[in-house]
Amino acid sequence: MFVAEETAAGITVTPLSPACGAEISGVDLATDLAPAVVEAIRAAWQKYLVLVIRGQDLSLDDQLRFAARFGPLGERKKAPEGLRERTEGIYQTEKHTLLVSNMKVDGKPIGAFGEGDMWFHIDSGYTERPYKYTFLYGMELPSTGGNTLFSNMYMAYDELPQPLKDTIKGRKALHIHEYKRTEKVDTSGDISHSPHWFHPVAVIHPETGRRALFVDRLMTARIEGLEPAESERVLNQLWDHAENPRFVYEHVWKLKDLVMWDNRCLTHGRTWFPPSENRLLRRCTVEGGPLDG
Ligand code: OGA
Ligand code: MN
Repeated sequence: MFVAEETAAGITVTPLSPACGAEISGVDLATDLAPAVVEAIRAAWQKYLVLVIRGQDLSLDDQLRFAARFGPLGERKKAPEGLRERTEGIYQTEKHTLLVSNMKVDGKPIGAFGEGDMWFHIDSGYTERPYKYTFLYGMELPSTGGNTLFSNMYMAYDELPQPLKDTIKGRKALHIHEYKRTEKVDTSGDISHSPHWFHPVAVIHPETGRRALFVDRLMTARIEGLEPAESERVLNQLWDHAENPRFVYEHVWKLKDLVMWDNRCLTHGRTWFPPSENRLLRRCTVEGGPLDG
């Protein structure tokens, strides 16, 4: 269905869905990549938003070294003290790395984000400087499910009905992290203990200059300046619209896949997988900056 494209740097780029996503082949990320190869990857990334590079044998150092070609590495965020063990996991030792896993040792989770499905979200969208990029590497996988879904927020913005575009124009939304995976945030009480930040409802991507919708079902709590009921109604419309399958690429993992995505123009979520089966992925990020609308 999709045509592979050979680039000058010798890598091949094959689109994966009409929404977003491309597979890159012809590279070994454990080697020291030539600048032209990094530039070709960067160009494909800007065009396809999510890149999949299969069959990579990556040590932790290899993964961090590759990610650092795209900017300063992000540090893992600390959860508030009371939730730390539950949300962080006991094997989280290297400060740039987050183990994403449902696995337990002596009854304690070794990683974060546990089991089951996960609503669409933006990585660290609740901070002033959401991560630019996330890199996730598949190390142990269940026999079925646990697919990662990516929604193209440029397309979602472009195809928004005009009245909705008018409603969100110039507005900001509050993003709050409550350490849940499939539950709406609750803003009725005191939010000062939960990390939170306001971002434009539609941001300008700093590198492409294109506008992207920047709200997600998991952490966006309300739109500033709208009555609560109106904010709720508009957010529900935005979420339903943004999660339309025509904007979504669904990644079915294979071992040794490295999947890398841009958090400024995508939201992502996860499908259910059997809790009795192990799933382990290793994540790192590249730091981001404030976003303008
Ligand atoms: C993440 C994440 C999804 C998954 O690591 O940020 O959302 O499929 N992971 O586990
Ligand atoms: Mn995530």
